[in-house]
Amino acid sequence: MLNINETVSVEINQKIALICLDNPPVNAASQSLRNGLQKALIWASSQNGIGVIVIYGAGCTFVAGADIKEFGKPPLAPFLPDLVNEIEKIEIPLISVLHGTALGGGLEIALGTHARVGIIGLKVGLPEIHLGLLPGAGGTQRAPRLCGIPAALDMILSGKHIHAEDALEMGLIDKLYDGQPRDVALQAAQEVLIGQLETRRTDQIFAKSHHAHIDKVEAKLIKTHSHLFSPHKCVQAVRACLLPIAEGLHVERQAFEECMQTPQRAALIHVFFGERSVSRIPESKIAPRPVAHIGIIGAGTMGSGIATACLLAGLRVTLIENVQESLNKGRAKIEQNLNGSVKRGKLHAEKLPRTQSLLQPALGIEALDQVDLVVEAAFEDMNVKKEIFKELDSVCKPGAILASNTSYLDINEIAAVTSRPQDVIGLHFFSPAHVMRLLEIVVGRKTDPTVTATGFTLAKKLRKVGVKAGVCDGFIGNRLLAHYRKTAAYLVLDGAQPQQVDQALEDFGFAMGPHKVTDLAGLDIDWMNRKRKAPTRPKEERYSGEIADRICENGWFGRKTGQGYYLYEGRDVHTNPDIDVIINAERKKAGINVQKFNNKEIVKRYMTAMISEAVRVLEEQIAARPLDVDMVLVFGYGFPRHRGGPLHYADTLGPQELINRIETYAKEDSHYWRVPDMLRQMASDGTKFSDFNEKVAVWT
Ligand code: CAA
Repeated sequence: MLNINETVSVEINQKIALICLDNPPVNAASQSLRNGLQKALIWASSQNGIGVIVIYGAGCTFVAGADIKEFGKPPLAPFLPDLVNEIEKIEIPLISVLHGTALGGGLEIALGTHARVGIIGLKVGLPEIHLGLLPGAGGTQRAPRLCGIPAALDMILSGKHIHAEDALEMGLIDKLYDGQPRDVALQAAQEVLIGQLETRRTDQIFAKSHHAHIDKVEAKLIKTHSHLFSPHKCVQAVRACLLPIAEGLHVERQAFEECMQTPQRAALIHVFFGERSVSRIPESKIAPRPVAHIGIIGAGTMGSGIATACLLAGLRVTLIENVQESLNKGRAKIEQNLNGSVKRGKLHAEKLPRTQSLLQPALGIEALDQVDLVVEAAFEDMNVKKEIFKELDSVCKPGAILASNTSYLDINEIAAVTSRPQDVIGLHFFSPAHVMRLLEIVVGRKTDPTVTATGFTLAKKLRKVGVKAGVCDGFIGNRLLAHYRKTAAYLVLDGAQPQQVDQALEDFGFAMGPHKVTDLAGLDIDWMNRKRKAPTRPKEERYSGEIADRICENGWFGRKTGQGYYLYEGRDVHTNPDIDVIINAERKKAGINVQKFNNKEIVKRYMTAMISEAVRVLEEQIAARPLDVDMVLVFGYGFPRHRGGPLHYADTLGPQELINRIETYAKEDSHYWRVPDMLRQMASDGTKFSDFNEKVAVWT
């Protein structure tokens, strides 16, 4: 065995040269790996008597792609596209053995080899689109040559992972084996030597022309994804696969470089690493408490969604309601959710009966005496919650975690009614709880670190993005929402139309404008919150709820009542003419001098409000790092992923621009628009939010 460098080694076994790539955790094609592989290939092909060279991966995977950490930094030779070209041109038959995942640049290395064999369980894919890129090491040229333009285009534009069996059928891999990578490498190499496994160079295959298909896909993308950059470049590059390969690779290279320069690429990579870094908190080093059996109080929409998420993760669930009818409804909802998961391919049909059997519906909290963790998802009212937690305190076994799914209420106050505040935590799920990725883990003053650690392990088990939040009204997400939602209300009071505000923000990239979101969530929820906060509302604060209050007084609560800011008829959505009447009356009553706002100004105000409140959340250490705020907004509030989150976006504007904007708006309303001290500090010392992401603040 010859160690070429710290990530690549070569071994000669008679006529076979075995090149092993070993760059944990995912064998990313870092500079070291590329350099080692290049040297290993030169060395192996210069040895006498070598009949076949095999590349395989050590550890749990082949190569999961280029090393994403290198993106945005000065490129280091050897470059992956050149290396793949060199691989393809090697005169000795050269094959790759793929196990675990072969993604992005990993699959592209394999496409350059002369045959690819897979090991059962393998998944392949070209997911670069999720990072604002395109396959830039020949993937757009070689994949269509192997599996045809429609299949390749679908794989590249969806970024999906393809199971080994499908990859075999598509022609992306040539044969499937069972076994360890090195053993399979030897076996497949022997088969090449005796002519049982054919090898051929991908660049010598011609892709079948499919211009009409490409045109159709392109036209659809222009309609649905005009705000994104890389999908259009993917299509452009795939179209070039009909050219001689050198020309096609040149087109791909240029398109890749263009994608690399975009802010969308930087934002999407921020989200990729943010999703993974967000659980890196001081408590992550502490052993969590074991959780196998969950209790859920409340079988409404939230409770049944949380129950579904837990069942899908293989946890036992005891679901509690007060009356049989509500319990039956909850059970039916869970059934419906599980069946939907089967339909969407999230749950294998054969696992459905076992998953269903993990659910135990029960009447009364006494049934929770043996659970490891309870999630209370009852009515959002402090007195209701306090009663439930008193009962839980007397029923639950010692060490059981008592969690509230409250969206706003004070976890410390809830914890204080129990004799075990150290076991109390907030687990704030988002509706529909079995679909939405975000889980806010709200840590109270007395919450034990093992309880926080368990919250994060549970999030991981449920495949959710857990974000640590401190206690305040609305924690991270709903606190920001309550603030920036006011901007939308002020804009409408002062002259914009709700549809215009929604359109401006959807054009910016939000999945839905704020009025559509409110209609979906139910206007009654905000109404209840406004009433709850009325006694503590500072008298200098401009009230933002006049229009929404009038709408609610009519009994129009949005989608569920068929009428809100919009009118709903089945799947059809129309503007609601009655809203204009309400808006005009309220403007008149308040003596408002109606202004005109263009869409750019709407986005500016909305984003500036969101960012200022996000900064205050950081100042108060409700969020530990800017990335925590970003992940909350991206995974729970429909914030456009390709903008990276409010504070990543804020870095693209810079603190001085934000200060200027806030000072301008403060001339209209100096209570709402205030410059956070942290922004002034950042402007004076030249720091960016990204500089704070490495630091972890500790709650006091
Ligand atoms: N580069 C650098 N680091 C990577 C990486 C990559 N391509 N892929 C994963 N990692 C890191 C993660 O950041 C994580 O690090 P920490 O433990 O420090 O947080 C670690 O590897 C493990 O990753 P996951 O937590 O995601 O592990 P998982 O088992 O849940 O998933 C995976 C494994 C499916 C490979 C997933 O990590 C993944 O999807 N990775 C990205 C794959 C990808 O996008 N490849 C294309 C890269 S771009 C490219 O290749 C461009 C080109 O054309 C040349």
